[in-house]
Amino acid sequence: MNVLIILAHPERRSFNAKLAETTQQIWAEKGHDVNLIDLYHEDFDPREASWHYNQRQNTDRFDVMQEQRHSWDVKSLPEEINRHIGLLLNADIVVFHFPFWWCGVPAILKGWMDRVFVYGGLYRSGKRYENGILQGKNALLVSTGAASARLCLPDGREGDTRLMLWPFMYSLHYVGFNVLEPYLIHGVRGGLAGKEADVLKNDLEEKVKNYIVKLGKWNEWPLVPFNRNSDFTNEGILKPDAPVYSPFIRHVDLK
Ligand SMILES: Cc1cc2nc3c(=O)[nH]c(=O)nc-3n(C[C@H](O)[C@H](O)[C@H](O)COP(=O)(O)O)c2cc1C
Repeated sequence: MNVLIILAHPERRSFNAKLAETTQQIWAEKGHDVNLIDLYHEDFDPREASWHYNQRQNTDRFDVMQEQRHSWDVKSLPEEINRHIGLLLNADIVVFHFPFWWCGVPAILKGWMDRVFVYGGLYRSGKRYENGILQGKNALLVSTGAASARLCLPDGREGDTRLMLWPFMYSLHYVGFNVLEPYLIHGVRGGLAGKEADVLKNDLEEKVKNYIVKLGKWNEWPLVPFNRNSDFTNEGILKPDAPVYSPFIRHVDLK
């Protein structure tokens, strides 16, 4: 199996980066091919911008979708984007390791998606969702947050953390991925010293052990459910009898 790890953390000695290395090690020990993209280490530019395109189709106005499609067609995408797309197309599972920042993924990871999920190449009309280019591949989000698990439940003050990751997961689904239930590690707080830091260290060691056990059974993890194409009308509206899996796509009464 080909495993691709995307790490989005600025510090290689952080808990997040160590956990990404654990993922790398565990799968390598099982004999899988593992690649790791460390976005900060590569100095990945998360800004989708005109300066990345050296063979523009339209130089008057930077139309991102037009230039993405054109660069894909004429094979003039930036070298790092080609490399990342190559690794993605080759992967059976992609694991995203990142800290939960301001109710979502860090900007560098969002920008990675903006630039790497190239229109015309990784998605286009008729090649989306269950017909997506990346269908058959699995995606797993492994994230940490400072808030306690209890506060990240739907009635907690931090808000429903899993739900906040839904837009990112839906975008993965959009390009065809099967998305595994995210693995969230709560209570990973920075800035602690003394006894508090020791307690946290022991707690995190326990959480890493649990993660390793869980990773060994990753193929038993539930998938995040999404609506099928057949749940929508030809106009893309949820049919009245279709199931609802998230408040982001739900029935409305327009009367
Ligand atoms: C910019 C920033 C935003 C953050 N936003 C959140 C947040 O919305 N919810 C939360 O629980 N923790 C938040 N945190 C805490 C981080 O998630 C936490 O420090 C990190 O996951 C710890 O892992 P690390 O030691 O590997 O960095 C934030 C931290 C930073 C620096």
